[in-house]
Amino acid sequence: MKMDFKSQLLQGIPKEMPPKRLYATNVSHAPKRKDILSPTEKKLAVRNALRYFPKKWHPELAQEFANELVDYGRIYMYRFKPEYEIYARPINDYPAKTKQAACIMLMIQNNLDPAVAQHPEELITYGGNGAVFQNWAQYLLTMKYLATMTEEQTLHIYSGHPMGLFPSSKDAPRVVVTNGMMIPNYSKPNDWEKYNALGVTQYGQMTAGSYMYIGPQGIVHGTAITVMNAFRKVLKKDENPSGKIFLTSGLGGMSGAQPKAGNIAGCITVCAEVNVAAAKKRHEQGWVDELIDDLNELVIRTKKATASNEVVSLAFIGNIVDVWEKFDEERVYISLGSDQTSLHNPWAGGYYPVGLSFEEANKMMSSDPNSFKKKVQQSLRRQVAAINKHTSKGTYFFDYGNAFLLEASRAGADIMAKNNLDFKYPSYVQDILGPLCFDYGFGPFRWVCTSGNPIDLHKTDTIALKVMERIKTIAPLEIKQQMQDNITWIREAEQNKLVVGSQARILYADAEGRSKIAEAFNQAIKTGEITAPVVLGRDHHDVSGTDSPFRETSNIYDGSQFTADMAIHNVIGDSFRGATWVSIHNGGGVGWGEVINGGFGMVLDGSEDASRRLQNMLFYDVNNGISRRSWARNKEALFAIKREMARTPELKVTLPNLVEDELLNNLFE
Ligand SMILES: NC(=O)c1ccc[n+]([C@@H]2O[C@H](COP(=O)([O-])OP(=O)(O)OC[C@H]3O[C@@H](n4cnc5c(N)ncnc54)[C@H](O)[C@@H]3O)[C@@H](O)[C@H]2O)c1
Repeated sequence: MKMDFKSQLLQGIPKEMPPKRLYATNVSHAPKRKDILSPTEKKLAVRNALRYFPKKWHPELAQEFANELVDYGRIYMYRFKPEYEIYARPINDYPAKTKQAACIMLMIQNNLDPAVAQHPEELITYGGNGAVFQNWAQYLLTMKYLATMTEEQTLHIYSGHPMGLFPSSKDAPRVVVTNGMMIPNYSKPNDWEKYNALGVTQYGQMTAGSYMYIGPQGIVHGTAITVMNAFRKVLKKDENPSGKIFLTSGLGGMSGAQPKAGNIAGCITVCAEVNVAAAKKRHEQGWVDELIDDLNELVIRTKKATASNEVVSLAFIGNIVDVWEKFDEERVYISLGSDQTSLHNPWAGGYYPVGLSFEEANKMMSSDPNSFKKKVQQSLRRQVAAINKHTSKGTYFFDYGNAFLLEASRAGADIMAKNNLDFKYPSYVQDILGPLCFDYGFGPFRWVCTSGNPIDLHKTDTIALKVMERIKTIAPLEIKQQMQDNITWIREAEQNKLVVGSQARILYADAEGRSKIAEAFNQAIKTGEITAPVVLGRDHHDVSGTDSPFRETSNIYDGSQFTADMAIHNVIGDSFRGATWVSIHNGGGVGWGEVINGGFGMVLDGSEDASRRLQNMLFYDVNNGISRRSWARNKEALFAIKREMARTPELKVTLPNLVEDELLNNLFE
C-alpha cells in the first residue's frame, strides 16, 4: 500500500530500498560537472555517500553511485527522491511538534518545487549551482528531523548535511545552517568542484541553501527599483522610459525577473536567453511577453516597439553577444544595458560562449574544460568590445551583480578604467542600490503566508500598504522617493501576478518599515484576521547580510569591502535575538570565495513572544549594516544611523571623524 505524505516524511530514509528511478527527461537538469576527482577520491565520494544507508544496500548502491559520479560528476542519489509532490503545502499538512519546524519544511519544499527550482532533480534552486541539499538522503533526513523536533532542540545543518538535533532552548533558533564554509585557502572554484563532488560541501547561493527563495518575484522588486532609477539617471526631466530600450540577458532563476521589471518600469526590454526551455518557461509563466528566435526579426520588432513607444518585453532565444553586435550594426540605440548570465559560475554552465550552440557548449564544458574556458573568455572579450561601442554612443551600462565585470577583466577584455584599478562601468550597487537603498536601510524584506491562501496574502499586502503610507507622512525628504516607489510596488503587486510557488511577497523596507509591518502582521494573526503563521525573511542581498566587494559592499570605499565581519556579526546577532533559523554561506551571487552572506527566517505566530523577537531582531538585522556603512563614511548611512540613534537611546554607534582632503595631499609624495 502506498504511504501517505506524512508517513513518508516521518520515516526519513525509507525502511525498504525504493526502486530505481528512471532519469527524468521532462525537467531541466544541472549540467554534467567537471571530472575532478582522482580514482582514490572517487572511492571516497562513494564511501561518503553510502554512510547514509544500511550496509545491506551497499553492494547495489555502490555501483549506482559510482555511475552517477561518472555520468553527472556528482552523486545525487536520484533513487531516493520521494514519490510525493514537492511544493509549499498549507502549514497544517506537515507533521510537526512545533509550527516553527513546519514552517521551515514548507520553505524547503518551496525551494525544491519544480515550478520554482531551476534543476529540481539535482536539488538546485537557482543560479546553476545554488543547492538546497547535496543529495536526496540529506533532504529525507532533514525533513524527518524537522517533523520530530521540539522547541527545546536545534537542528545543525552543514552544507545540506543534517548533523543532528541538539538540545537548546525555546529562544534559540530551530535551525542553524552553514553552506560552503571553507578554510579560506581552500575557497577557489576548483575547491568547490572537488569538495562538492566528495559530498562534503555545497554552494548554497543566497536563498537556495537557506530556504528563503520565493521565485523570481524576490528579485523583480529590486530589479524594478534598479531599472527605474537607472532610467532616472539617463533620462531628461520631461522624458519617461516608454519606447526606450533596456538590453540584457538571462531568463533563469533571478534573471527571469528582468522583463517583468522592465514592464513595471515602463520600457522596452530585450533579453537574450540561450536555453530554449528557460525562455519558454518564463514566457508560459507570463514573465516575458514575446519569444523571438531570429536576429533580423528581433531588430524589426525592436524598431517597431521604439517607433510606437511601446512597453513590451522581448525574449531573444540565442546568445547575448550576437544581440549587442547586431544592434550596433543596425544602429539600434540602447538606453540601458546590463547582463545577468551566471558569471559567478563561468566554467560550469553559467555563461554560454557565442559561436557554440547550447548543446555543444554543455558537452564541451565537461569533455574539454580548457577549450571551453578559452571560448568563454573570447566571448567575453567580444561582448565587452560591442558594449564599448554602444556606451561610446551614450548607453548607460551597469554590472548586475553577476561578476560580469570581474570575469571580463580576468578574460582580458577592454573593461578597465584609465587608472587600471577600477572598472569602466559601475555596479548597480555602487550607482543605485547602495546609495539609494542599502545605506538608508532599505532592502528586500519578504514574507510568506503559510496558510497557502491568496486571501491571506492580499490581507498582508493591505496591511503593509497602510503601514508604509503612514510612515511616509513623517519620513524625511532623503527617503521620500524610496518610500513612494515601495508604496507603488505594494499597491500594484497583486495585479502584477508575481506569485510562483508559496504565497509570498517582497517589499523593500527600512528598519522602521520592517518592524512596523511585522508587528502589524503579528497582531492580525493574533486576532485571526490572518489565518496562519507568517514567515518573515529577506534576501541575503541586503543592507547587512552580505560582504561582497563586487556587489553588496561595492560602495564601501575604506578598504573594508574585502572583510567579512559584518555578515558574521549579523548571523550571530540575529541568532540570539530571536531568529527561527539562521544561515551563513560562502559564495552566492558573485561566486565561491568571493562573498560571505547570511540570512534568517522568523516565524510570526501572533504571540507576545513573536512580538518581542521581531522588534529586537529586525532592528539589529538592519542597523548592523548601516553602522558599518556609516563607519565607511557613506553619507547616506551616516544620516540614517544618526537618525536612528536620535530615536533609540540604547543604540550607541561609533561615528567616523571625516578628514579634510588637503591634509593628506602632500603625504607620502
Ligand atoms: N540582479 C540581482 O539583483 C541579482 C541578485 C542576485 C544574483 N544575481 C546574479 O545574476 C546571475 C543570474 O542569476 P540566475 O539565478 O538568473 O541564474 P541562472 O543560471 O538561473 O540564469 C542565467 C541564464 O543565463 C543564460 N545564459 C548564459 N549565458 C548566456 C549567453 N551568453 N547569452 C544568453 N543567455 C545566456 C543561461 O542559459 C541561464 O538561463 C547570477 O550570477 C546571480 O548571482 C543578480
